[in-house]
Amino acid sequence: MNDTTASIGTAGHLTNRPRRLRRTAAIRGMVRETRLELDGLIQPLFVCPGTGIRAEVGSMPEVYQLSVDQIVEESRELLGLGVKSVILFGIPESKDAEGTGAYADDGIVQRAIRAIKAAVPGMTVVTDVCLCEYTDHGHCGLLDGEHILNDPTVDLLVRAAISHADAGADIIAPSDMMDGRIGAIRRGLDAAGYHDIPIISYAVKYASSFYGPFREAAGSTPSFGDRRSHQMDPANFREALREARLDLAEGADIIMVKPALPYLDVIKTLYDTTDVPIAAYQVSGEYAMIHAAARNGWLDLDGAMKESLLCIRRAGASIIVTYFAKRLAQGMRK
Ligand code: PBG
Repeated sequence: MNDTTASIGTAGHLTNRPRRLRRTAAIRGMVRETRLELDGLIQPLFVCPGTGIRAEVGSMPEVYQLSVDQIVEESRELLGLGVKSVILFGIPESKDAEGTGAYADDGIVQRAIRAIKAAVPGMTVVTDVCLCEYTDHGHCGLLDGEHILNDPTVDLLVRAAISHADAGADIIAPSDMMDGRIGAIRRGLDAAGYHDIPIISYAVKYASSFYGPFREAAGSTPSFGDRRSHQMDPANFREALREARLDLAEGADIIMVKPALPYLDVIKTLYDTTDVPIAAYQVSGEYAMIHAAARNGWLDLDGAMKESLLCIRRAGASIIVTYFAKRLAQGMRK
């Protein structure tokens, strides 16, 4: 291209012109440093009682509460699209103070795992381990008054993890933020013969305002108080490194940061300072914000989706849990 109006130096001479590498789509593609592919994406799915149920979550367009038969169909469709992994969250028939549905052999998630692995064996099934969807008070553990007990809760989390493995789960992902649970779950899985089942630790999980839509989807809003006695203060960075270091020492195979976009500094530092795969959870609020703005005509949905995922990957997360996994895969088909 001849820019006849160039007025830099003599005859438009400028040694460094970064725009040279942006001139055509082919050159831009050649120098692109990060790419979005489906292998690292995990689609969250919500499983509920009943049959034939496919109920859209109000604050999360294109996300559904699915009965077991429907979650099988969804898994089949996802795998066909190239999404090779799902993470399951359960909406139990009934809840109690001890969250027994979380570790029942015939619990809703345990049934979903068995059904998916039987009908769609190629699907990698990750399970979220926490009590909050199963307790009638909505907290992530056993309560003594308003205090969440750590060690007795960990015992129940170990039971939940083993029950998921018994049902056929491929990867266990504890999201509760109790101290010492990774080590306890690792020992529990090993003692039950599941040496080869990896643990994705939600090692760095912040007490975030961005979980609101998830709590609507999973019916897990705490009946009083909040989660600040176990989830991390958004102000803290050094503490994130400590949490990650402890979980790795306890045997975590993959560490996850959650939410994703507001915490790219944490993702990047963990990528630079550890040698395990880093995962990030683009949470319900991040998803809902993009959809809401797009519905108002304020953002381009697919553009904002791809940019957010690409930037999370650029920061160092090779694995992303995202409600956009299916949409991204559908877009790649076109
Ligand atoms: C369970 C759990 C939560 C999320 C994932 N696992 C809810 C919470 O901590 O309140 C949130 C996921 C999302 O917002 O998409 N503890």
